Amino acid sequence: MAKQKEIPGKSNKPLSGKTAIVTGASSGIGRATALTLAKAGAAVVIFARRKDRLTKLLSDIEKQGGKAITVVGNASYSEDVDKLLEQTLQWKEGGRKYEIVVVNAGRGLAGGTLSSDNSQWEEVYNTNVLGAAYLMRLAAKYFVNRKKGDIVVVGSVVGRNISPFSAFYGSSKFAVGAIVEGLRQEICAHGVRVSLVMPGIVKSEFQKVAGYNEDNFYQGIAHMGKLLEPQAIADGICWLLTQPPGINISEIMIRPTGQNYP
Ligand SMILES: NC(=O)c1ccc[n+]([C@@H]2O[C@H](COP(=O)([O-])OP(=O)(O)OC[C@H]3O[C@@H](n4cnc5c(N)ncnc54)[C@H](OP(=O)(O)O)[C@@H]3O)[C@@H](O)[C@H]2O)c1
Repeated sequence: MAKQKEIPGKSNKPLSGKTAIVTGASSGIGRATALTLAKAGAAVVIFARRKDRLTKLLSDIEKQGGKAITVVGNASYSEDVDKLLEQTLQWKEGGRKYEIVVVNAGRGLAGGTLSSDNSQWEEVYNTNVLGAAYLMRLAAKYFVNRKKGDIVVVGSVVGRNISPFSAFYGSSKFAVGAIVEGLRQEICAHGVRVSLVMPGIVKSEFQKVAGYNEDNFYQGIAHMGKLLEPQAIADGICWLLTQPPGINISEIMIRPTGQNYP
């Protein structure tokens, strides 16, 4: 394959000088996003509960010439989210500021109202809705003061289309999607962009954590063919972040081509 030509006047590090926070960076979409934003020049703050995974990612980012710090914590605990932002603002190499927050930490849950495990309902809402909203609120206040900034939230196709196979999890993504659009309307006049990214089915640890198996998932999606890799979502996020400041891609849905539903 021929080497891609550089486009004159177009930087291959469009995010250089910016600091990006990525939650849920220890796996899947978050990990791919952190690597991609770092490649695009951003200094990245990577957050999740598993320290060993973050340490490995930090070393991978540094190997590709990027800058990162790790913050270990739980996205559903407000004190851990406070710590994430405090440590970001103390990070000298990140310029003691941030311009981008990717609210990605989340988990799935197989089943609808009858079939899902209700002992996990609270954790799903605490992480996907309340924790996400708390981070959005703090980032939004900071960005409104600075009159710029990007908040990107990872929702889901099941946060737009109801499916009986994941109705409970989907309801958390409906909720967060509503918060995202309301926040966009609240703060767009201050120069702050808010975006909702809704992935279709992506191969990651998500399926295992959610409790999907042959019967409740894989048989039903067999006809869809090749599923997405996390990189597809990371590329979408990087694309919307590199639009000119006057353009807000407020939502995108990215599915594998063969995914007819949801
Ligand atoms: N995969 C899909 O098909 C799909 C489709 C639509 C939307 N999504 C959404 O995409 C996002 C990322 O999912 P993924 O596919 O990349 O799944 P994944 O591989 O399981 O990654 C989830 C990430 O979120 C982190 N996380 C989960 N709960 C957390 C908590 N309480 N505190 C801090 N970090 C937490 C995990 O890290 P630790 O375990 O180390 O904390 C991990 O880094 C989620 O919001 C998910 O709902 C996924």
